[in-house]
Amino acid sequence: MLRTTTSSMWASTSRLLRQPLASATTTTRFSRTAAISSLSASTRLFSISAAASSPPPPPQYSNNGNNSAAAAAPRHPRVLVTGSLGQLGSGLVKELRSMYGNENVVASDIRKAPEEFMASGPFVYADVMNYSMLERIVVDWRIDWVVHYSALLSAVAEKNPALALSVNMTGFQNMLELAKVHRLRLYSPSTIGAFGPSTPKNNTPDLTIMRPNTIYGITKLHNELLGEYYREKFGVDFRSARYPGILSADTPPGGGTTDYAVDIFHHAIRTGHYDCFLSKDTRLPMMYLSDCIKGTVDHLTYPTPLPQSVYNIAACSFTPAELTAEIQKHLPHFTISYPDPAHPDFRQAIADSWPASLDDSMARRDFGWKEEFGMERMVKLMLDKIQAQVDAEKKVVSSTATNGPAAMAA
Ligand SMILES: NC(=O)c1ccc[n+]([C@@H]2O[C@H](COP(=O)([O-])OP(=O)(O)OC[C@H]3O[C@@H](n4cnc5c(N)ncnc54)[C@H](O)[C@@H]3O)[C@@H](O)[C@H]2O)c1
Repeated sequence: MLRTTTSSMWASTSRLLRQPLASATTTTRFSRTAAISSLSASTRLFSISAAASSPPPPPQYSNNGNNSAAAAAPRHPRVLVTGSLGQLGSGLVKELRSMYGNENVVASDIRKAPEEFMASGPFVYADVMNYSMLERIVVDWRIDWVVHYSALLSAVAEKNPALALSVNMTGFQNMLELAKVHRLRLYSPSTIGAFGPSTPKNNTPDLTIMRPNTIYGITKLHNELLGEYYREKFGVDFRSARYPGILSADTPPGGGTTDYAVDIFHHAIRTGHYDCFLSKDTRLPMMYLSDCIKGTVDHLTYPTPLPQSVYNIAACSFTPAELTAEIQKHLPHFTISYPDPAHPDFRQAIADSWPASLDDSMARRDFGWKEEFGMERMVKLMLDKIQAQVDAEKKVVSSTATNGPAAMAA
């Protein structure tokens, strides 16, 4: 019974994340030429909502009347994180807040944040398709850097290409334009999905053939190129890393093709069996969440401009069969099944178009990228963390059964 309940909780969370986002359909398209008169018309065609809603009041800055001391004191950068309720955002927000103080990191999304997240620092509603709303946040909160995490991931994007074009491209264009106008540093991750079927598959370098054939990959390659253009043309400090599949135990994945590598752990512990949607020999690059956050922070905070805007970063590569064998070292009874090759899942074609491993030597050279977790450590940690979650859920269920209304009535 418990197994059914907890696994269906997990499934419904995953389903929720894969639903199309209603807010996107309310967006209207017009030029904001009147708003920024100093810019040329060609750079101002961004899709924004007609009405900008008000964010909550920004922080009050006090220097106790001592203006010269305040002017001399170095201050931390003020960072806005978009899409901060996704798989990667909450961990990054936590890390940045520990470095710069809660009040200096403004988290944002278009969904309601959990109570504990709200309590840990400022959180605002920010639809990345709404330029004026974003600009107001940047101005009111005096933002210096933006980590732009809002996106539709590969599998979700493939199911709704029009929405993916809006969120992934228009949202990014809005952020990039704001970075130009307000001199922001902009970190916006790319993906292994920006490569394509004609890209060399093994040890894929930073600079190579890039002809993605998924809508996710096309939007992300567009963003890479546009970011590089703004850096060259307008001096925007645009930084990006091509993330591989990211594994995390605490936050559910947002609908990507590498999600199997997270789901498999939940099923291994909760049911002992997993129906994999990729074939057993599909090799993809992967990374543990804490490495992703560390690499992102090191890249974001690197003090001087780097030789290139976009870098590969990676930690390890494995197939579903290899991951299964590693899990079975801890859970010998775990079983897995794969799709009938005659009827592959739609995500197989996406995975087949991506590299099997990345050459990330430039990131290692330029900003000291180095992973802590290989596959073996990652598997052990994922299993330990998910087992702890299941044990905690069991405790809640048994204490409800003992102390709940029915027990009390009895
Ligand atoms: N997770 C991975 O394995 C992975 C791999 C490669 C690249 N990336 C990239 O990292 C970034 C973060 O990924 P993630 O896994 O956290 O994604 P996610 O899907 O878990 O989260 C994305 C967030 O964006 C928000 N969002 C959607 N539409 C929005 C809108 N119109 N305005 C504002 N926010 C909106 C969603 O509510 C969600 O919280 C993305 O750019 C993604 O492409 C992730």
